[in-house]
Amino acid sequence: MRIEFLDAPQSPAPRFIAQLAASDAMPAGLEAVLVEGARAARFTGKAGQIHEGFVERGSQLVRVALAGVGEANGAAKDAGRSGSLERAGAALAARYLASGETALTVDLAGSGLTGADCAALLLGLRLRCWRHDAYRTKLPEDQKVTLASVHVVNAPAGSQAEWAREAALAEGVEFTRELVTEPGNVIYPESFVARCEARLAGKGLELRVLGEDAMRTLGMGALMGVSQGSPRPPRLLAIVWNGGEPGAKPMAFVGKGVTFDSGGISLKPPAGMEDMKWDMGGAGAVAGAMLALAGRKARANVIGICGLVENMPDGSAQRPGDVVTSMSGQTIEIINTDAEGRLVLCDALTWVQKEFAPSAIVDLATLTGAMIAALGNEYAGVFANDEGLAETLIAAGKTSGDKLWRFPLGAPYDKLIDSPIADMKNAGPRNGGAITAAQFLLRFIAKGTPWAHLDIAGMVWADKAGATWEKGATGYGVRLIDRYVRDNCEN
Ligand code: BES
Ligand code: MN
Ligand code: ZN
Repeated sequence: MRIEFLDAPQSPAPRFIAQLAASDAMPAGLEAVLVEGARAARFTGKAGQIHEGFVERGSQLVRVALAGVGEANGAAKDAGRSGSLERAGAALAARYLASGETALTVDLAGSGLTGADCAALLLGLRLRCWRHDAYRTKLPEDQKVTLASVHVVNAPAGSQAEWAREAALAEGVEFTRELVTEPGNVIYPESFVARCEARLAGKGLELRVLGEDAMRTLGMGALMGVSQGSPRPPRLLAIVWNGGEPGAKPMAFVGKGVTFDSGGISLKPPAGMEDMKWDMGGAGAVAGAMLALAGRKARANVIGICGLVENMPDGSAQRPGDVVTSMSGQTIEIINTDAEGRLVLCDALTWVQKEFAPSAIVDLATLTGAMIAALGNEYAGVFANDEGLAETLIAAGKTSGDKLWRFPLGAPYDKLIDSPIADMKNAGPRNGGAITAAQFLLRFIAKGTPWAHLDIAGMVWADKAGATWEKGATGYGVRLIDRYVRDNCEN
């Protein structure tokens, strides 16, 4: 999707135009036939509503799509003004992406938008356009994407600079969706790294990759235990962005990157196991967010860590009952080889603390089914050892639309993962499973380091289309990280 701002009138004059309509306020000068048609169709200008018709302008018949943006100055309930504008842009994309139209002119004359509003509209439009059709060789003609370019005319002052920032964010979200959507035979630890190397090249990011030898030397027995049942070797990827004060402590984001989670010897049941290709959604979000931050040259020092393994059962796979030693020195009894995410994360967390001494750490992980049972697909869970970090993350969730809901931590939960043979076990009782998973991670965080764990199991993949995504990979986490960094790490 190409999005361009045009200063001069287009020639030939466009034959497909979108105009915005606020709640019960049609664009000034709109043809009576459209005004009347919209009224008859009960179009009220609600955010996300579309009404279209054909009118004669000059000597030309023009297709006009009216896109509702909600109350003119108002705050729609969830994400406010920018949320309504995003919805309007997304509605245009959803309706016309495969409509046969190849170019759309968005005319913002008299819209009363700010530059930031315009960027929000375009962000919604672009995000809703993303699809992954590479493996669909028999897609019927009328389902193929046709819309290739969007021309913005009469844009408010400042739109282009605002859009440059949001376009970088869109790129990040799209990269995450791509990584998440690709199947496990295409994206595995090595190829995840290779895609990052290709996609993040030339952006001013530094990439560091640890392979098995380095991991063994560092004593990452927990992470390596997960990967030992797979022929695909593990990787730990660090993506470094130094856009802030030289030498200032970085903010760290750590993602669970289980490129396929079969459960291992504690094999998952077959129904729905294909979903476990997106068990790398945390790592995917971290990689996409780093791309977004670099793309918009964020004035902050940020580290992104992706812990990459495949969890498979075979003769060399780890067993329930095995005891492994983590990089921290703490020992872990493996109760369930399907509780593998925490084993990957614990070594990644230890490493990031030793290697980078970050000012704070946020991990993102599709960690537990219990999280989905608790929150469904509306909020990710946040667990934190620091009130301020929890609050700022929740606030970033509200503004970005990647919503978070806080869950408790505490000694009575921690006790539940004590082991009779080792320092801890990797799985507690069924009840409270998302919390005991978080307690496990907390045991690897040094005292005094602010840390938050985001269990995003319910958010990475959508069974039905949302406002700004088609069904499938949502890109959850990228906007949250970007917003958190914008509001808390940049000045
Ligand atoms: N990747 C899964 C969690 C998951 C399940 C994410 C469904 C998204 C959708 C994780 O590795 C897992 O298997 N967790 C177990 C932990 C249990 C064995 C303690 C779970 O939640 O059942
Ligand atoms: Mn698992
Ligand atoms: Zn998993």
